[in-house]
Amino acid sequence: MIAELSPADKAKFAAARRAVDFVEDGMRLGLGTGSTAAWMVKCLGNRVRNEGLKIRGVPTSSRTAALAADCGIEVITLDQAGWLDLTIDGADEFDADYRLIKGGGGAHLQEKIVAAASDRMLVITDPSKDVATLGAFPLPLEVIPFGMETTRRLVERVLADADVDGRGTAFRKAGEGLFVTDEGNHTLDLQLGRIGDPEGLSAALNAIPGVVENGLFMNICDVIVIGHEDGRAVTRQKGKGGEEETRLDFAEEDKLFQADN
Ligand code: A5P
Repeated sequence: MIAELSPADKAKFAAARRAVDFVEDGMRLGLGTGSTAAWMVKCLGNRVRNEGLKIRGVPTSSRTAALAADCGIEVITLDQAGWLDLTIDGADEFDADYRLIKGGGGAHLQEKIVAAASDRMLVITDPSKDVATLGAFPLPLEVIPFGMETTRRLVERVLADADVDGRGTAFRKAGEGLFVTDEGNHTLDLQLGRIGDPEGLSAALNAIPGVVENGLFMNICDVIVIGHEDGRAVTRQKGKGGEEETRLDFAEEDKLFQADN
């Protein structure tokens, strides 16, 4: 199963598998959303079954909640948890300053609330998302349905003065209709190409009343694990220079997953 994954999925798996090594007994965890985070939830489920690891997880989307429950992880709400020891989540882009674009899966609002309520945020990713400057990936905004076209015009006014290369905006579609988030809102994707001042842009966008939250994560992420298709996982930790590299054996992982799933 693991050995037959595509190279991209092997890289995601390598990052996810390495990330669950950071999880300790008794932790309250934020569980991210997306294809990389889904591997992390499955790997955590294996540790719960094989080692009797005791953890409680706060999912960042209804999709992750369903998967975590399937994997035997005790699911609680953020308010039940109060505070979290660690959040593990994916990202769409990351830069050398641990800044991220998230929300490709439409869950960045819950993801940011959960990550902001955690002692540490660990991001699991792959080399394709490592960028010198954020912005090639469309920046998502969660927008309230009321007055959404007016909100879009206000966003375009902000973009007119922003240090960006592109200014396209598009409400995300799902089939024939608009994509709806878990909170009942819509997602406005901004085609910016390059974001020269992520902090300034984030503040200006979040000051628009109809914008609930943007997908820029700054001063939140502490650790980045970059998975590679050959099983290597490279870990960068904020405040610690250098990188640490580990390598997993896909054949061994295969045995674990075949026994358990
Ligand atoms: C979900 O809303 C996003 O923030 C995801 O974390 C992000 O899109 C990464 O997803 P993948 O792991 O599927 O690339």
